[in-house]
Amino acid sequence: MFDAARPRTATPRRYLMCPPTHFAVTYAINPWMDPSVPVDAELAMRQWTTLRDTYRALGHRVELIEPIAGLPDMVFAANGGLVVDGRALGARFHGPERAPEADAYVAWLASHVDARAHRPVRVMEAEGDLLAIGEVVLAGHGFRTERAAHEEVAEVLDREVVSLQLVDPRYYHLDTCLAVLDDTTIAWLPAAFAPPAQAELRRRFPDGIEASAADAAALGLNAVSDGRHVVLAAEATALADALEVRGFTPVPVELSELRKAGGGPKCCTMELRAAASDTSVPGDIPDTEEQAA
Ligand code: ARG
Repeated sequence: MFDAARPRTATPRRYLMCPPTHFAVTYAINPWMDPSVPVDAELAMRQWTTLRDTYRALGHRVELIEPIAGLPDMVFAANGGLVVDGRALGARFHGPERAPEADAYVAWLASHVDARAHRPVRVMEAEGDLLAIGEVVLAGHGFRTERAAHEEVAEVLDREVVSLQLVDPRYYHLDTCLAVLDDTTIAWLPAAFAPPAQAELRRRFPDGIEASAADAAALGLNAVSDGRHVVLAAEATALADALEVRGFTPVPVELSELRKAGGGPKCCTMELRAAASDTSVPGDIPDTEEQAA
């Protein structure tokens, strides 16, 4: 349980993001997407820029991958890879619309993080469905990532992978209905999970914060935590209050335009987790040209 006498501590993170230069909703691969609803591209860029600047203001390092024309969902960097202990996995997308993103992300990971970056054999949408917490990886399946991909992840990362079946099409990726807040704490929407997955999560995380249906529907659980600050959709006010009660500091951001594609802050963010043996503090690494953007 949270001990009020010991405040939560933030640790500096290294993130990869992709500017929404080519963002649009031109196809529908989840229930949030409706190509007939207009998207304000300039507003999308402003909101995304605020998110990037929010991370930097919190002391995190943000790197950028070059956006590619014709790939409107490439802004959702979480789906391009999973990096744990300095070991990188790329993605294999479920549908043809996003398939070409996989090459761009794995190439970036190979040159910036891990020369051995693994190209998945099975369909897996990376940090969309695979969330590292403590010593394990929580893994969603049911809509995008194949159940069989979980074994591939376990093998490559040499970590226990906990398979969780998703059942609500609005919460098609694990990171839309479960947020990792620190090594032992989650926030989640139980109704988005099959009963065995609910039981597993309750067993492992008896203190988990349960979000309301309304906050989940604002994609409030698509949140990014550094152990203390939790960057989340501004509309998720009850969740923000619950986080505060538990000693976290909610950092609300507006991402209305990206939500039209079914994405929130976490979807825009791939965390690059260094190997435990890598003693360089991410915040100490000098700025690269990419970061100047
Ligand atoms: N339109 C994108 C898709 O359906 C949104 C991806 C959101 N990303 C995430 N990590 N949940 O694939």
